Amino acid sequence: MQAQVLPARGSGARLGMEIATTIEATRAQCRAARRAGLRIGLVPTMGALHEGHLSLVRVAKAQSDFVAVSIFVNPLQFGPTEDLARYPRDFERDRDLLKQEGVDLIFAPTVSEMYPTPAITYVNVEGLSERLDGQSRPGHFRGVTTVVSKLFHIVEPDLAVFGQKDAAQVAIIRRMVRDLNMPVEIVVAPIVREPDGLAMSSRNAYLDPKQRKQALVLSVALRCVQESFERGERSAAKLIAAGRKLLEQEPDVRLDYFSVVDPESLDPVEHVACKSLVAVAAYVGPTRLIDNVILRSQPPT
Ligand code: PAJ
Repeated sequence: MQAQVLPARGSGARLGMEIATTIEATRAQCRAARRAGLRIGLVPTMGALHEGHLSLVRVAKAQSDFVAVSIFVNPLQFGPTEDLARYPRDFERDRDLLKQEGVDLIFAPTVSEMYPTPAITYVNVEGLSERLDGQSRPGHFRGVTTVVSKLFHIVEPDLAVFGQKDAAQVAIIRRMVRDLNMPVEIVVAPIVREPDGLAMSSRNAYLDPKQRKQALVLSVALRCVQESFERGERSAAKLIAAGRKLLEQEPDVRLDYFSVVDPESLDPVEHVACKSLVAVAAYVGPTRLIDNVILRSQPPT
């Protein structure tokens, strides 16, 4: 049998970008790619794409031969009073951006395709899903892990790329994959920021110019914590106090949490030993924004 010649990774040698709206068509595309010996990378998104999402696509392209991007605003991860109805949606723009990146397949299902009957089967990472955002958004992470499990079953990717921007989501998905022996490698890409430091987010579109300026305090507070850490501060309480102080100076910014936790277990830490996650969530007007930074102690030389 003649050996199959595969295009080099990231060469964009395959033609065109397929758009699938059904699970069946997506499965057929992905199975054909797998039969051709291609390594499949998946980037799950809710659309309204920005440079943060596109950075994940580039990571997926560099590490796989066939890149699938899902665009699905997943109702299961929104609470009853949250922004599901007004979440930004612009499929044409997303499609054009993904085409420029050389994506092979977009999976853009409808809600009834993903949930033909109301979901009664869930994947839940107990304990972790109640931490950080899970505390103020009950059921949110259960919605995330359920839809990501479904996406993994539909696409059957070799690897899936997630953003460090959603640090708790990363910890929870990693744990789900480990506990359920899912045969997928989780790759995490760094946070992409606006030039002034604001972490990119689809929800930044909700901010008016005044709120956009106020929102900057999240990344400023995290930078202040990082600088304090670099000057030698190791007490979580003192690091948090420094960050909170800055946030309190913006009266229209309402803090949800400012925590120093272990990046895997999401357990609060008292002292930063080797690697800790400093995570913040705050409401700027009605818009809930999150950001984080990892603090790493230099190993002793
Ligand atoms: P969404 O908010 O659209 O984000 C999709 C992916 O992009 C996530 O992995 C997120 O961490 C990453 N991302 C967002 N902003 C980023 C930034 N500024 N820098 C780097 N990466 C960034 O997260 C979700 O959708 C959903 O929960 C999903 C996983 C798709 C399940 O519905």
